[in-house]
Amino acid sequence: MTTIQFHYIHHSAFTFSDGKTTLLFDPYLEGNPEGLTAGDIKADYIFISHAHGDHLGDAYEIAKRNDALIISTAEIAHDAETHGCRAHAMHLGGTFAFPFGRVRITPAFHGSGIAGGHACGFIVRLAGKVIYFAGDTSLFGDMKLLGELEKIDYALLPIGDNFTMGPDDAVIAAKFLGARNVIPIHYSTWPIIAQDPQAFKAKAEAETASKVLTIAPGSTVELD
Ligand code: NI
Repeated sequence: MTTIQFHYIHHSAFTFSDGKTTLLFDPYLEGNPEGLTAGDIKADYIFISHAHGDHLGDAYEIAKRNDALIISTAEIAHDAETHGCRAHAMHLGGTFAFPFGRVRITPAFHGSGIAGGHACGFIVRLAGKVIYFAGDTSLFGDMKLLGELEKIDYALLPIGDNFTMGPDDAVIAAKFLGARNVIPIHYSTWPIIAQDPQAFKAKAEAETASKVLTIAPGSTVELD
């Protein structure tokens, strides 16, 4: 069975790697409690869900240092190109087969942080696994549809509340998605989004068929 490595930086910043290709998501480093800088991160592809500072973060600097390809909505991809990065523009509902696997851009209900844009999430295939990163979003009913379209192995869901859905709505999201595993993210970065991931895990595992993996910031785990 192929395993993939998941490294949780903190907030919504994390990587998935199959040993050949490293995918980096929403690399918010400067201001992140983990205290990393762009030089600490290696990546081949960088996904950006929206342009708020705690998601776009250090993406352009990391992209240039690694010659990584940025994958995002058209507005952010074009902005990345004007900053000297390589980028692949997609938009909501679109899929594209990259060398590592197919990517689908999903809606997210949140500000885009860029003129004319739309926040998004991603469904990514890597080493035979299907990964859904919801981005910053409220709960929305079409998560049911995403669960019908894709057999999700890992759903990364925000649980911080205030700016995104909170733990109770994320339990409903897990139910809608039918994901094999849920990884809570976007919490306890700052006091305003402080949450107890163990309480979320207990409720989600009692009310859904998903297993919840609570992963400490700064740690790496093998997933199968
Ligand atoms: Ni945001």
